[in-house]
Amino acid sequence: MSDPSSSASPSAPPAVEARALTKRIHDGRDRRVVLEGIDLVVERGELVLLRGPSGSGKTTLLALLGAMLSPTSGEVLLDGEPTSRLRDRHRAEVRRRRVGFVFQDVQLIEGMSVVDNTLLARVPDGITAADRERARSLLGRFGVGPLASVAARGLSGGERQRVALARALLGDPALLLLDEPTAHLDAERADDLVALLIDLVAEGRALVIATHDDRFAGELVRAGSTRARVRTVLLAAGRLAGHGEGEPTS
Ligand SMILES: Nc1ncnc2c1ncn2[C@@H]1O[C@H](COP(=O)(O)OP(=O)(O)OP(=O)(O)O)[C@@H](O)[C@H]1O
Ligand SMILES: [Mg+2]
Repeated sequence: MSDPSSSASPSAPPAVEARALTKRIHDGRDRRVVLEGIDLVVERGELVLLRGPSGSGKTTLLALLGAMLSPTSGEVLLDGEPTSRLRDRHRAEVRRRRVGFVFQDVQLIEGMSVVDNTLLARVPDGITAADRERARSLLGRFGVGPLASVAARGLSGGERQRVALARALLGDPALLLLDEPTAHLDAERADDLVALLIDLVAEGRALVIATHDDRFAGELVRAGSTRARVRTVLLAAGRLAGHGEGEPTS
């Protein structure tokens, strides 16, 4: 963050807060409750692991926390700002300023250079020289600086993941949301990612990570024990089923 000391201030609102969140899907005659009664607060300097079986609602919860989806009822506050009733355009602006996403399948434009992929979110505002410098510096931080000018199509899974991280951090968001970030990584690359993510938490960001990967979750808990607050939240059939400090509760 540009000023980590201010983010540590006790008066700063949580990076994200969910209050009594519910998401119901109406799909023709099929009506189902995807999430029900979710209360969750994630502070800066905190990493929350979202665990739970397939279909328990992890991806949906990430989308709600990042104001990509609006809840059926309840509220999501980003940096203290309520988002659920904002009009789409305003909500998109809030999201762009406050949230970075790393999706399970990293979407890069294959024919475009790595640095231009990193800058995509800035296109609506116009890309400045400072943006370009920040993109290069983030790519360097994540070990893919030398690839900045090459086309994305040649990148490995691990390299794509790093470009996606740089892209998510370009706007300097307090909140970073990651969905199954190790899905395309081998164990060694996943371990490298652990260190990068803990650094981001230690510098005062809030991270929420949905993962099925027990090894990765365990490594985050271990690595975080001395440097960051890591906790696990368990979802089961759309409800919060448990919380734990550190170790997964399942
Ligand atoms: N737009 C939608 N239309 C219909 N059903 C949906 C929609 N979005 C989510 N669901 C349903 O909501 C439930 C939760 O889905 P979600 O993708 O959030 O689960 P998940 O915990 O991320 O699963 P996985 O571990 O497999 O990624 C699933 O039963 C899914 O089919
Ligand atoms: Mg999912």
